[in-house]
Amino acid sequence: MFYYIIKKSIKNCIFTKLELNFNLSEITLIDRKGIRMFDQTIAPYGTDDPEKLMDKFYKAGNEMLLTLRNYITNPDNRKKARTWGSIEAAQMVGVSNPTFRKLLETHTNIPGIVIETNEGNRRIKKFTLQAINILREHANTKYNRPIGSKPLVIAVSNLKGGVGKTQTAVDLGKKIAISGLKALLLDFDGQGTATLLSSGLIPDLELCYEDTITNSLVSDPEKIRDIILKTHFDGFDIIPANLAIQDCDLLLPNVNENNQDTLGSPFIRLSKALKNIKDDYDVILIDCGPNLGILTLNAIIACDGMIIPIPPSMGDYSSFIMYTASLKNLFRELKDKKLEYLRILISKHSGNNEAMQMENMMREQFGRYILSNHMCDTIEVSKAANEIGTIYDVSKPRGSREAYRRAVQHLDDVNMEIINHFKDIWGRQAQKNVTTEMEEVVNG
Ligand SMILES: Nc1ncnc2c1ncn2[C@@H]1O[C@H](COP(=O)(O)OP(=O)(O)OP(=O)(O)O)[C@@H](O)[C@H]1O
Ligand SMILES: [Mg+2]
Repeated sequence: MFYYIIKKSIKNCIFTKLELNFNLSEITLIDRKGIRMFDQTIAPYGTDDPEKLMDKFYKAGNEMLLTLRNYITNPDNRKKARTWGSIEAAQMVGVSNPTFRKLLETHTNIPGIVIETNEGNRRIKKFTLQAINILREHANTKYNRPIGSKPLVIAVSNLKGGVGKTQTAVDLGKKIAISGLKALLLDFDGQGTATLLSSGLIPDLELCYEDTITNSLVSDPEKIRDIILKTHFDGFDIIPANLAIQDCDLLLPNVNENNQDTLGSPFIRLSKALKNIKDDYDVILIDCGPNLGILTLNAIIACDGMIIPIPPSMGDYSSFIMYTASLKNLFRELKDKKLEYLRILISKHSGNNEAMQMENMMREQFGRYILSNHMCDTIEVSKAANEIGTIYDVSKPRGSREAYRRAVQHLDDVNMEIINHFKDIWGRQAQKNVTTEMEEVVNG
């Protein structure tokens, strides 16, 4: 059957109205006769044909996602690079407004500067991250990871679902790029949420088996280079996922399929594959699924550090405690494993009394391993998700500007704390390298 999508009100037709102020509930799926499609097949409390019903859900759901994505990304169906105004751009470049103006006068033809029309119908210059990064180079304000430091591989992991792993990984990746560094995000969850939120690609419709990490882990580690996708954030790349990566759970443990003779243990495949691309990045983030399956094990074995998001609630806390028991057993097996970085992020903090009590208790127990800043639970996350993105994609907030500003502040505080830790680690690595080299010279 053929479905198409209309909006209830023709006046506000989504195909003609280009501002992003639609309401998702106003988009309705109907069939040609105008009868709601599911009403025809669902028995009062169930269905006689679950297969057919699931097929309908699948097709209708994907079609809805695709239409929504295409509407948001009109006209070329790809997410556009977000832009910043000149005051923000000057701050990001790290220079005063007059210096910024001078930079623009001196360096003409910088790619990534666009002209947009603002609310007062005035045409103004806007800057993409690409332009800002070029201006950082010209102004000599770009942070370069020190010589002798190493890229950091960070697994964002927790056994519990829905704690904010994906949100944390995607936004940290974007903030690393916004800061002028290079980040790669590996989507290690077949749900593909990180892929959708980072790139706008619909995982099951627009990616095939070969686009995912599966072949790189099962048969050819060098293939990893071919599956890297650039996103609309300059400096933020992803390795996407869809349900195809579940094959890793079947193939890697299987001695007949996992190529152990030529590629070694199935648990070190990610470490092997990453060697081919690691030096192209400053940080490689892995968004793990809510499990300790073979993909998560590969991630933990390959990583230099971990970020564990935990919402301040008893259920999430007790689940994390269970996770530590499994991690303890795992690290016992990995005898030489060290973590250069380990932080717990208090995520989705509601700010109510109960959450604050949990937060205090967690801070008392885990001390310096908890990030000083927490991520608040905010509607701005869902608003951005409804436009197939995250808070950092939003340049014109829908609704209260103040609520959006507060959410960005929370997110920035968390991410900058983490990025500053990374910079500190790189500084120490570089220093250690210099000291070792000097010792070698002194000792002949
Ligand atoms: N700071 C936040 N404020 C409000 N909602 C949030 C916040 N962070 C995450 N969420 C929402 O919580 C839900 C779960 O978040 P997310 O997908 O990041 O969790 P996850 O741990 O990756 O889940 P899974 O284990 O299923 O992969 C999502 O609907 C997301 O939009
Ligand atoms: Mg997730």
